[in-house]
Parts: sequence; C-alpha cells; structure tokens
Amino acid sequence: NYLRHVESMSQLPSGAGKISQLNAVVLGESLASEENDLIFPSKEFSGQALVSSPQQYMEMHKRSVEDPAGFWSDIASEFYWKQKWGDQVFSENLDVRKGPIRIEWFKGGITNICYNCLDKNVEAGLGDKIAMYWEGNEIGVDASLTYSELLQRVCQLSNYLKDIGVKKGDAVVIYLPMLMELPIAMLACARIGAVHSVVFAGFSADSLAQRIVDCKPKVILTCNAVKRGPKTINLKAIVDAALDQSSKDGVSVDVCLTYENSSATTRENTKWQNGRDVWWQDVIPKYPTSCEVEWVDAEDPLFLLYTSGSTGKPKGVLHTTGGYMIYTATTFKYAFDYKPTDVYWCTADCGWITGHSYVTYGPMLNGATVVVFEGAPNYPDSGRCWDIVDKHKISIFYTAPTLVRSLMRDDDKFVTRYSRKSLRVLGSVGEPINPSAWRWFFNVVGDSRCPISDTWWQTETGGFMITPLPGAWPQKPGSATFPFFGVQPVIVDEKGNEIEGECGGYLCVKGSWPGAFRTLFGDHERYETTYFKPFAGYYFSGDGCSRDKDGYYWLTGRVDDVINVSGHRIGTAEVESALVLHPQCAEAAVVGIDHEVKGQGIYAFVTLLEGVPYSEELRKSLVLMVRNQIGAFAAPDRIHWAPGLPKTRSGKIMRRILRKIASRQLEELGDISTLADPSVVDQLIALADV
Ligand code: WT7
Repeated sequence: NYLRHVESMSQLPSGAGKISQLNAVVLGESLASEENDLIFPSKEFSGQALVSSPQQYMEMHKRSVEDPAGFWSDIASEFYWKQKWGDQVFSENLDVRKGPIRIEWFKGGITNICYNCLDKNVEAGLGDKIAMYWEGNEIGVDASLTYSELLQRVCQLSNYLKDIGVKKGDAVVIYLPMLMELPIAMLACARIGAVHSVVFAGFSADSLAQRIVDCKPKVILTCNAVKRGPKTINLKAIVDAALDQSSKDGVSVDVCLTYENSSATTRENTKWQNGRDVWWQDVIPKYPTSCEVEWVDAEDPLFLLYTSGSTGKPKGVLHTTGGYMIYTATTFKYAFDYKPTDVYWCTADCGWITGHSYVTYGPMLNGATVVVFEGAPNYPDSGRCWDIVDKHKISIFYTAPTLVRSLMRDDDKFVTRYSRKSLRVLGSVGEPINPSAWRWFFNVVGDSRCPISDTWWQTETGGFMITPLPGAWPQKPGSATFPFFGVQPVIVDEKGNEIEGECGGYLCVKGSWPGAFRTLFGDHERYETTYFKPFAGYYFSGDGCSRDKDGYYWLTGRVDDVINVSGHRIGTAEVESALVLHPQCAEAAVVGIDHEVKGQGIYAFVTLLEGVPYSEELRKSLVLMVRNQIGAFAAPDRIHWAPGLPKTRSGKIMRRILRKIASRQLEELGDISTLADPSVVDQLIALADV
C-alpha cells in the first residue's frame, strides 16, 4: 500500500489543485523511516481526525475559495454575536491600482472575543474545566484556573481598568512574562474594547519606550521581576527606564500596574514611584468578579503588535476583532485536530503573535486547556519539557525548530526517560524546520506516532496560512504542505507573474482571509508599500518558497532584509541603527548567517571611526549596545572589523558580497567590478578571523 501511494503521488501532475486523484491516506502501521519522503498518518489517527483524507481537504478547500462568504459565515455562526454582520460577509480591495487597500470581514457584526473565549464556554458547561495550567520556572511551583475562575480574574482586571479611565479604543501596553496574568491582561482589555499591545518582556527599555511613544497608552501592566532558568530579570526597572524615556519624548503613562511575582524578588527591592505605580495584588482582588462586556464591531481593533521590517522603525501590526476571532479559532481546531479532551501546550511567549493566536485566543475560543510556562525549556535540564508533558498529560505540543535543534544536541535520554505517551500531535513554527530536526522531533519526541503540523504564517496573517491538517495528507519532513481553508498562495517571479506547477519564487497570497491584518498603526501608506505594492494585486509575504511536483509548499526563508533568529524576526536595519549609536562606530552592515541552533545568526560588519583600534573590549561594548537598544535576543553573534564596506558607485552597500564573506563562500563572490572600490573585498577577507 505504502509503495503504491508513493508511486501514485510521484506521477501526479503539479499543483495542489490537481491532486484529487490521490487515494485516501494509508492504512496500516505507521511507516515513518529515514529513507522515505512521505510519512503517512496512521490509520488510527486519520480515522478519528476532523479531516481524514486528501479528498475531504480538497472539497473543503475548494468551497472555501469558491464561496468564502458561505464557508466563513457558517463557521462564524457557531460563535456568539450580539448582532449579526451585515449583508456582505466581507469586502476588500487588494489592488493598489484600484484605490486604497481595504479588508473587512463580518462588518456590522457586533461581538466580543473575550465573551466568546470565556462566558460562552462557561455557559456551555465548561466552567469547571481547566482553562490554564501554569508551570513556574522552578519545578513544583505551579497553579491552575478553571474557565469560571479565569473569567472572574479577567472581570476584576477589566473593572479596574475601567475604573482608572481606560475606554474602548484606548491602548494598553502589557510588558509581562509568562505568568497567568499575561493572558488575563489580554482578555481583560478585549473585554472592555481596549486595544492591547503586548511587548515581549525580552525587549530593552529603549524598544519598550519606542512602542509606548508610538501607541500612547494610559496604563502599562508589568511585574516586578521574573526568573528564567537561573537568571532573575528585573522587569520593573526596565519599565521605569522606558517610562523616563517616553516622558522625555512627550508621552507619559498615568499608571504602572505591577504584579508582585514574589518568587523572583521582593516589594522592598522594587523601586517605586508613588502616584504612578500600583501593586496589582493590592487593588485587583477588591474589584467585582463580574463585568459587563463592551460590545464591539467586528472591525474594531483588538490589538497592536509591533514587528520588524526592513527599515529601522518597528511596524504596529493591527488586528481587528471578528475576522481574527473566527480565523484563530478555526486554524487552531483543524491544524491540531483539536479534541475537547486535549491538553495543549504552545511554548511561545505571548509577546509574539504565536502567543496571541495560539496561547490565548485560538485555544480558548475552542474551550481548550492550555499550559502557560514561565521558565526556560532547558532548566533545570534538557528534560524539562517532557517532564511538563507527562505531568499534565499534554496531547498537543507546539514549539519552534530552534528549541528542537537545541534539545536534539543533548542526549536522547533526556527525552526517553519520560513516557510522553499522552502526545498525539506535534507542531512547529517560526522558521523552516530542517528535515533532520523534523525527523528527530518525529521519531524521538513523538515516538514515530505523532504527525507534525509545520505551520507557516506571520504576525501579519493572524493565523496559520500553510499547514498540514494532520489526518489528511502524508507529510514530507520540512514542508509546510498545503494552504489552509480560504488561503490561495501564489508563487510569483521577479516581475510579479504567477508561476504554475513545480517552481520557486516569491510567496504571495491572492484574496483576503479573515485573520489578515488591516493596517499598520498610524501608517496605512507603509502597509500598502510594504505588502501590496511589490507585486500588484497580491499580498507579499517577504518569504521565498517553492512548490514541488506533488504541490507541497516549501518555505525557504526571508527574501527581504529581515533575519530570523530562533524564530524571532529582526530587521538588519534595526541592528545597524543600534550599532552606529556606539560612539566609536562609523558604519555598520548586518547580514544573516546559518546557525546550527538558532537557524540564523546575526553577523555584523563594523567600520570604526578613524584611528580607533580594534579590541575585544570594543567588540563587547558594541554587542552590549545592541542588547541595550533592542534586547538580548538581537545580540550579534559575530563582529567583523571592516575598514570599508563594499559599495556601488552610487553608495549602495552590496549585501550579496557581505553574505558570501560572512559565510566564507569566498569562491562565490561574483562580479565585484561594479564596486566603487573593489579592494575593500580583499581587506575584509584579510580581517575575517581577527
Ligand atoms: C516569518 C514570520 C508566525 C509565527 C512566528 C513568527 C518565518 C514562520 C514558518 C514555518 C518557514 C516560517 C517566515 C515568516 N516562518 N513560520 N513554519 N516555516 N518559515 O512570526 O515574527 O511574524 O515571522 O517567520 O519567514 O515570514 P513572525
């Protein structure tokens, strides 16, 4: 059977749309093995799956693109709407040549995402179901909340926020680690129609200040400190510095609500500004445990999340309520083949989009039990994740390739000493997963039993775009497989011509989907220029991609000036701006290089001011500059002294050449004759190992 399917598969014409001949998924034992390209879900898995065959997927996908209004409104009807949307389920203009870009879904529909995450589930009888298991940094420190308890906690915070004057449409900045209070804070904002902007708690004071200045919140939610592994990070001190900075830049924040995370530090050790700073535990428990929701339009903003682009200034990606709600709920359900009995753990931090869509909203809209983990996955040792998996009988485990690669370097016994038999589905996100990491994840972590959903998507897309449906298709290690319902990926060439069949090129999307972002906060023009102008008529993802003869999609990484370090998106321009702030730095150029664990590392060419000598100390202070300006996760892996940078006669830095030098592919430098001064190339090569 297995061979027959492999054979039938390779004889198929190209394009996902043409694979309908493929027979239902196999049958019999799990056939995963190192040599085989195709890994089929077991009969047991497919038999119980929501989508259990390619045919079923094909039919659903066909309907979703031929009749998006019907497809999505059927799903939306399963959620609570105070008032149904208007006659038009969606309207859009995705072509800059025809006017401003505009995307609207369920316009006129009145709802609330917090209500759908919590109240609706409690009313449906899930009040006593665990909504969240919280696992602290130290083993044995844990907590949990049922759906009813979570609702009460959220209501108390909502009431407080209303009390201090936060209104519908106001921005609230959240700078918290993975405590239960982080999803609570997001839901509390959503409940009152406030727009949350979560800033990952690994960002520096400067980055936080920059975001505060951009979105001007009345209030910021944080905690005194957090422990990650053996390290204590004093978040409140970072917030203090950010608030000083932002008030210098004209934006002052009235209230800093601070959660006392007593396992990390004490109140006495926390600097305090009376009148502005408030201890969370002193005020929140006094508020009523119920709170009327603020009903909002489907197109009212839900949150802002800043992400990196190819210029220095981070972009405030804006998501609205209705479409995002339906999209995250549906993608979660199908991509993980969710069952009400599942216990689900996504290792992402709520500071990134993954934590928004797949720690908080997507799972809770499905009434799922989620795990929230404060600590570091290798603390106290490399077995921590599997300890947590066994402890909570986790059935769906969703993580990033960088974590897989770092754990894979350690002895397998850190995995195999745990049972992991509760696991059913694995997931991967953030960057392409290399086939060897895929196989280790599949064979060792999942005991060759659990399909892997390699989900391709972006902050901008709100939810999964290309992803396996684990019971439907055989998998290929390293491929994100096929588009989700309603998604029409297209691969275009340099000129923007759509290429059919087996090919490679730039990944774009045709048409809109409910979870798409609607604008960049305060800069609709940048939204249009970055995403809709490069290839008119399409949304441009910034990624390269190929499609194989069977129609499977393979993401190949960013094609713009964005580096993906451990699944974190970093603009080369941001790192360069940070480096040139150093008083001894004249110029900097940053490129990505392959990195065994992080996927990509940051490689910086630095030109010093005239007469400044190279030194180890200087190298360290340059790295420190980036840590302070952006955050530790953006620290360059290498600083390469550069007496000059390769530039064209018009002054443009030729990064192509820098990338080759950084990866030591010196035979492949290509044509350097167009450089203003070709001799800089030899000078750079001479300094490669200094
Ligand atoms: C970029 C988006 C969306 C969740 C986390 C990152 C890369 C993401 C995959 C994947 C290959 C992937 C892309 C994309 N990416 N998931 N499964 N396979 N590449 O969100 O910070 O908005 O970054 O991450 O390059 O453009 P983000």
